[in-house]
Amino acid sequence: MSPDFAHAAFSMDDFTSVAVTEQQISDKLDQIAAQIREDYEGKEVLLVGVLKGAVMVMADLARRLPPSVEMDWMAVSSYGSGTKSSGVVRILKDLDADLTGRHVLIVEDIIDTGMTLSWLLGNLRSRGAESVEVAALLRKPDAVQVEISVRYVGFDIPSDFVVGYGLDWAEKYRTLPFVAVLKPSVYSED
Ligand code: IMP
Ligand code: MG
Repeated sequence: MSPDFAHAAFSMDDFTSVAVTEQQISDKLDQIAAQIREDYEGKEVLLVGVLKGAVMVMADLARRLPPSVEMDWMAVSSYGSGTKSSGVVRILKDLDADLTGRHVLIVEDIIDTGMTLSWLLGNLRSRGAESVEVAALLRKPDAVQVEISVRYVGFDIPSDFVVGYGLDWAEKYRTLPFVAVLKPSVYSED
């Protein structure tokens, strides 16, 4: 990766490494989109993005799918401004769509503990959808501890705290075109 950072609004000094490059994300989304097109042939898909982290992956994935796909959004909170899941999920913004009989594909940025997704799957399944599946760009190792089937996964990454491509730390870094490991010195209090 050799982007020109001269005009970028960020400094690479905040990161220990790049976990997933812009090119890797693009190639992976091509593959996942091809698989989704095949799996949902003849069906109408409702993409449900989880704000705010999923905005980038939603935008890039949706543009690789047929124009018949619909998008809806939900905002939930499980983290506050820290780096660990609290386990308590609150709905900050609910869906506009009625899920009855719909083929729902949840689009997620990352699965860490899996607590958010596990809660979300239960919640959306209870609304009468025909099917509810998950596409997540990133997955951390802890996710295996929760019984959730994730149909489409982009990358399995180490459990370091990452930012970029929608992922934030205290609302920052979402606009990076790649996913980077945040230097612990940026978020540690000591
Ligand atoms: P989980 O409930 O632990 O699976 O966490 C899910 C949510 O926490 C994700 O959708 C992200 O918004 C956020 N999250 C988890 N890991 C990270 C990370 O490394 N960086 C930024 N946000 C994260
Ligand atoms: Mg999220």
